[in-house]
Amino acid sequence: MNQKPKHAIWGRRSTFILAATGSAVGLGNIWKFPYIAGENGGGAFVLMYLLCICLIGLPVMVAEVLLGRRGRANPIMAMQKVAHESGSSRGWSLIGVSGVLAGFLILSYYSVIAGWTLEYVATAARGGFVGLDGVSAKQTFDSLLSNKSALVRWQTAFLCMTVLVIIFGVKRGLETAVRVLMPMLFALLLVLLVYAAYVGDFAAGFLFLFSFKLADLSLVGLSLALGHAFFTLSLGMGAIMAYGSYMPSSHSIVKTVLIVGLLDTLVALIAGLAIFPIVFATSGVEPGDGSGLMFISLPIVFGAMPFGTLFGTLFFVLVTLAAWSSSISLLEPAVAYLTERFRFHRVSANLLIASLAWLLGLGTVLSFNDWSDSRYFLGMNLFNFIDFITASVMLPLGGAFMAVYVGWFMRRRPLRHELTHDSSKTFRYWFMIVRYVSPVLVIVVFIMGLYGKFAG
Ligand code: TRP
Repeated sequence: MNQKPKHAIWGRRSTFILAATGSAVGLGNIWKFPYIAGENGGGAFVLMYLLCICLIGLPVMVAEVLLGRRGRANPIMAMQKVAHESGSSRGWSLIGVSGVLAGFLILSYYSVIAGWTLEYVATAARGGFVGLDGVSAKQTFDSLLSNKSALVRWQTAFLCMTVLVIIFGVKRGLETAVRVLMPMLFALLLVLLVYAAYVGDFAAGFLFLFSFKLADLSLVGLSLALGHAFFTLSLGMGAIMAYGSYMPSSHSIVKTVLIVGLLDTLVALIAGLAIFPIVFATSGVEPGDGSGLMFISLPIVFGAMPFGTLFGTLFFVLVTLAAWSSSISLLEPAVAYLTERFRFHRVSANLLIASLAWLLGLGTVLSFNDWSDSRYFLGMNLFNFIDFITASVMLPLGGAFMAVYVGWFMRRRPLRHELTHDSSKTFRYWFMIVRYVSPVLVIVVFIMGLYGKFAG
């Protein structure tokens, strides 16, 4: 039946949805979104982020899944195959190369932050959240950041977790993890939301996220919103392309992408709605407090709620697992590249990339203590620089190139063929957006963002 037995195809559409949601929902939604929204004016940022998701993220996601499914291979080879079919240059596979690199760079700091969630599992289980207030919650977090050996220990633990599971069969573990744990995370976030509304200042949190002043719209905020739209959907580096390559041809890409995008956005908004009411009700905690926001505000809620030790432990376990299912998709493209291009064994490829990511991750560990004030990388410390170069540069550009390829270079027949399950009206709308709107917006926002950051 299957003419290409070498490349597996998942039997059910739900498997793609699970894997893609597992990749998309992660630290980006629960840790990063609230803190960058808090630093960039709240509602103004949220509005730009939602616009970027709709006008750029979702259309580009359709393009990325489509490229993977058409190519039925790892991102680099998929781009080569698709380009060959449409008679375009092999150079398009550079999209895959940049993606492999971006995934590696993100993994290097992602595992450090996921290490923080592991430490918080331990703290919660010890009952360390009980009775926390703004000041003591900050102290707890700050003492973690200054404890380099703890940071490295947890970073190492998280990377080992990722590698071990990849070595011992991702598919099953990933599938059950996402099928069972994601709904649990979702439910727990809803519990937190309700409780935060009860003990916190829900009105203030809600207004902060959903009302905006024009004055708060900034170029830098706009470019961060764009970058985050790519980051949170795992877009622009081939992760979604790799998963798309396993998707059966008999399903609608557009509908599937809409489901994943909706789930991802919901998780981020709910996390924001759970965090900000606490921020506004706690003295000493501000929306602009930065990367510690979730680690400072949520323990206060757990410390005050009934069964808080249990809920708090469970919550940080689930966040760690969400981070884990995301980190797999960060590691996978690089591993696939090494195994296919240089004939590495899967295990050694995994170990090699993970060790390099670990080494680079030490730079992120130091960026939160000894190097926090260093400005050697375009005026940023190493963590901020890696975050900037991946989320604000590599992912949006990777995505823009995918949109340009699909919109301008790919032959129309294979394109339409991949989208036969969608009406011709849907196809026309999507095609117009991916051809004219998304790439132009990315380039404009990208240039304005650079201007705002370095010249403004
Ligand atoms: N989307 C994940 C999150 O929000 C992070 C992630 C996983 C990612 N895979 C990716 C980001 C690929 C960019 C590209 O936490």
